[in-house]
Amino acid sequence: MSIGLSDRAGAVTGSATMAVSARARELRAAGYRVVGFGAGEPDFPTPDHIVAAAQRACADPVNHRYTSAAGLPELRHLIAQTVLADTGLAVAASDVLVANGAKQAVYLACMVLLNPGDEALVPAPYWTTYPEAVRLAGATPVAVDTDPGQDYKVTPDRLDAHVTPRTKVLFFGSPANPTGTVYTPEETRAIGEWAARRGIWVISDEIYQHLVYDGAVAVSMPVAAPAVRDRCLVIGGVSKTYAMTGWRVGWLYGPAEAVRAAVNLQSHMSSNVSNVAQAAAIAALRAGRPGFDDVLAAYDRRRRLMLHVLQGIRGVDCPTPGGAFYCFPSVRRLLTRTINGRGFASTAELAAFILDEAGVALLPGEAFGAPGCLRLSYALDDQSLQTGLEHLQRLLSSQDIPRAHVH
Ligand SMILES: Cc1ncc(COP(=O)(O)O)c(C=O)c1O
Repeated sequence: MSIGLSDRAGAVTGSATMAVSARARELRAAGYRVVGFGAGEPDFPTPDHIVAAAQRACADPVNHRYTSAAGLPELRHLIAQTVLADTGLAVAASDVLVANGAKQAVYLACMVLLNPGDEALVPAPYWTTYPEAVRLAGATPVAVDTDPGQDYKVTPDRLDAHVTPRTKVLFFGSPANPTGTVYTPEETRAIGEWAARRGIWVISDEIYQHLVYDGAVAVSMPVAAPAVRDRCLVIGGVSKTYAMTGWRVGWLYGPAEAVRAAVNLQSHMSSNVSNVAQAAAIAALRAGRPGFDDVLAAYDRRRRLMLHVLQGIRGVDCPTPGGAFYCFPSVRRLLTRTINGRGFASTAELAAFILDEAGVALLPGEAFGAPGCLRLSYALDDQSLQTGLEHLQRLLSSQDIPRAHVH
């Protein structure tokens, strides 16, 4: 029976990845070893110099008080400087907003750009939060399907097929979650110029900008397509690059008027981001990325291993991800077969089966608007990665595999 919650509450679904995570927790609690390919976060601890800066900030009473809703001035300056150094884009510190993670920045961007009735183009597979943030703003997400055979990339032609007079926003991410797709500078420019020609805003999520492999370069949207700069909000943050997912510091920058509106909104929603977390982000940006090459090399090694195994399994088609830390294979062909006598109506069922039978937690494509696919994160230690892949390979080759009991 309804208890009278708002339409808004009814329209938004919780994270579709929760069911797998909850089952994985149950299995672990029951003593089974579960390898987690589900997490979208680095397995490395936050570097010591960042943690030390936060510890010092805790002890300083200046941080025990409210600060500016837009973020600490020093952090906004550092973000602007870092953007200039990394991308060549000159951004005024006053056009930067510090938010509670890139996730809140995405939500704020939707809230300041979208009216009820507007439509936002969301290339699918998409990060689960995009359509929900669009719905929270009262607007309608419009999925634009892509093809694993074309590395899950959208093109201006595909986008054109989904444009209506109500289209207000296009989501763009490179490298992308969940596919790891990295667009070339030319492809990014073509999409940006397409949006500029049609007067469509671009929310460019660049949270994975530094996680690229094989010499790929993820060019920032307003750099690739200057024509869209006055209608482009860029999202970024420290979560993925600095192993700081739990600290909750992200940002947004773009045209002054839009950023000012987002600051006003944030001032009523959450006030400032925790000063201690901002001090940690200041330490992160100030020191640059020492040791990051080693981190990248570790991800790259794991990416190659996972890709090699997945591409060797019958019925699994996995494009090579150029960035982030995910593989996103299509398993459509697998769904037409049985494994150990079991058939599967969806990848949600297949993911549950893999968890129960092989002790491997991975995420079904349904969570990302891509039924028929699976997402596997390779942000985990080499040993666990190896074990999980072996179990997965054995199960999907229809060989019996006993659950590893750890009592
Ligand atoms: C594409 C994308 N954008 C944003 C975020 C959120 O990052 P944050 O931890 O800074 O909120 C994630 C996290 O998974 C992501 O995958």
